[in-house]
Amino acid sequence: MSDSIRDRRVQYESDGLDVGDLQPDPIRQWQHWYAQAESAGCVEPNAMVISTIGLDGMPDSRYVLARGVTADGFAFYTNYGSAKSAELIASPVASALFTWLQLHRQMKIRGTVTRLSATESDAYFATRPRSSQLGAWASPQSEVLADRAELEARVAAADARFAGTDVIPRPVNWGGWRLSVVEAEVWQGRPSRLHDRFRYRRVDDAWVAERLAP
Ligand SMILES: Cc1cc2nc3c(=O)[nH]c(=O)nc-3n(C[C@H](O)[C@H](O)[C@H](O)COP(=O)(O)O)c2cc1C
Repeated sequence: MSDSIRDRRVQYESDGLDVGDLQPDPIRQWQHWYAQAESAGCVEPNAMVISTIGLDGMPDSRYVLARGVTADGFAFYTNYGSAKSAELIASPVASALFTWLQLHRQMKIRGTVTRLSATESDAYFATRPRSSQLGAWASPQSEVLADRAELEARVAAADARFAGTDVIPRPVNWGGWRLSVVEAEVWQGRPSRLHDRFRYRRVDDAWVAERLAP
């Protein structure tokens, strides 16, 4: 098993990426690659690993789904009482990593994080399936549960509470965060590990992309 991991090598054949192929800013570059990832059938192409600074100073990571990407940044939704939210409240910075492995691509975003407005969170919550809305009410995300039965009892209680209600309101402890880009990097796998990497950083009011050694 360990030998097969050690010897596993995939040649990353791709057309490569040069500075002239890049979009002028990281958001447009993400949109361009996202569209290609979707067409290529990548699994969960909007999934990103969000890394935060733990309350104990150690890095902490988990996947979330990007639910809106605009010139202002990357929006995602979660429980405001969760571990990640506590970490973002204490240190409002994060790194997000998208990987589109079928295309041998990754894109890293580093930036600052702000809470979405209640209006934005309400609007997104309203689009969620009823079962997910009940889940948001039922699950005290990141807290210790005695067993699975406790979670199921909480879901049943939420279901009973909203039994006669058509429109389930958003719980105040559930909503969105937005990651605004300070720096970004795109990575395209190439043969012989001579990959193409470009870092976007801001110089005055413009984005500059520089090639980095792989
Ligand atoms: C593909 C994928 C997508 C996920 N999307 C979300 C999401 O959008 N929001 C969320 O709160 N958790 C999402 N999760 C669960 C988180 O990874 C995590 O377990 C949860 O948010 C608790 O994290 P925390 O304790 O660090 O706050 C997702 C997990 C996976 C594997």
